Amino acid sequence: MKSIIIIFCIYISIARALDNGLAKTPPMGWMSWERFRCIIDCDKYPDECISERLIIEMADIMVKDGYLAAGYEYVNIDDCWSELERDKDGKIIADKNRFPRGIKFLSDYVHSKGLKFGTYLDYGTKTCAGYPGSLDFLETDAQSLAEWEVDFIKMDGCNVDTEKMVDGYIEFGRLMNATGRPIMYSCSWPAYFEYYRKPTMYPDYEILKKTCNLWRNWKDIEDSYESMLFTSDYFAEHAERVAPHAGPGHWNDPDTLLLGNFGLSYEQSKAQLAIWAVIAAPFLLSNDLRTVTPEIKELLLNREIIAVDQDPLGIQGKQLKKGNGIEVWVRPITPIVGNEYSYAVAFVSRRTDGHGYAFPYSLADLNLNSKNGYIVKDLFNLKRKTFNLLQNETHEERVNPTGANFYKFTPIK
Ligand SMILES: *[C@@H]1O[C@H](CO)[C@@H](O)[C@H](O)[C@H]1NC(C)=O
Ligand SMILES: *[C@@H]1O[C@H](CO)[C@@H](O)[C@H](O)[C@H]1NC(C)=O
Repeated sequence: MKSIIIIFCIYISIARALDNGLAKTPPMGWMSWERFRCIIDCDKYPDECISERLIIEMADIMVKDGYLAAGYEYVNIDDCWSELERDKDGKIIADKNRFPRGIKFLSDYVHSKGLKFGTYLDYGTKTCAGYPGSLDFLETDAQSLAEWEVDFIKMDGCNVDTEKMVDGYIEFGRLMNATGRPIMYSCSWPAYFEYYRKPTMYPDYEILKKTCNLWRNWKDIEDSYESMLFTSDYFAEHAERVAPHAGPGHWNDPDTLLLGNFGLSYEQSKAQLAIWAVIAAPFLLSNDLRTVTPEIKELLLNREIIAVDQDPLGIQGKQLKKGNGIEVWVRPITPIVGNEYSYAVAFVSRRTDGHGYAFPYSLADLNLNSKNGYIVKDLFNLKRKTFNLLQNETHEERVNPTGANFYKFTPIK
């Protein structure tokens, strides 16, 4: 008996999560990579190059157009922001032409708008795009982040042995903690273990939870429906293994939202948004906020969908079933009524027959067991009246080709 108790206590202490007070719900914000990549020629592409101007313009729009008010608070630069060489003291410095006033200036500017500021490093010898890596400079770089008052760091994993990663990321986390500044820590080693490295390895998610606030599990997303599905398939197929490790303070990260870019239609945009909300994904936009259409902006600012993503229980949902080209994704959320959860339910279609496919279901088909049934709210059509669905009833859902319908089911008392 005594040994059982001791083992139990050890288990509890191992399972404890990172305690920097951050990411109680999945982080929300904007990030440069997917849309702007490593465009560095500001003469040729002045509107798109990774530069002080780009970040300032995005920050201004986040405030002016209501993104900050809806919860999108981080403004994050990804790769390609620094000089190719460190300075004489070994410090990383921002590219002098593209960031003429330096990173601290930019961080102050972003903070002055009520936003938070994030940037990017790589644990290897060089970043993925060939800029200075942090491998022999972990302490210097942690210090720089604190001096610049950075709020979010994505630590990438190019150009380093996967064997070194776990200890290295833990060490960098410890060094950031030692600066005294709480910095949201986005780790990349699962993506390198599970996708980029061959043969695949499965990372220890208990270590991830103790070390990082969020972590990229899988391949970088690209601006296409196929890429979006490749990522959602990963989260469907590996849900039993990865979903239980998400929760307040520590999240799986399927990578950025593509909405507002070139690759997804309106219906496909709804599909990504609904799936990402079900799997408690960080809502990080990687788009050009200056050119987002009103329809897409309305999706991104949909308060009910944001509330699903940000649900305080922090339970990551899963794909419940699929068949006939229709996938059903389900996430337990608040409010809890009696002892029954509410649920967010997404019906996602991969079908391409020209009309909305008719999909009949009952509550039992969704494993929704509250005996008095549920009040159902259409999250993509907030003006539509709610309706009740009882246990003895069947409801027909029509899902547009490659689109999604998304509902909140609240138990009837
Ligand atoms: C550092 O770690 C300790 C122990 O987990 C924690 O209580 C503290 O809030 C952390 N500080 C920062 C700045 O992250
Ligand atoms: C379902 O049950 C309710 C009351 O329990 C009843 O009023 C209704 O007619 C039933 N519907 C069907 C389709 O059986």
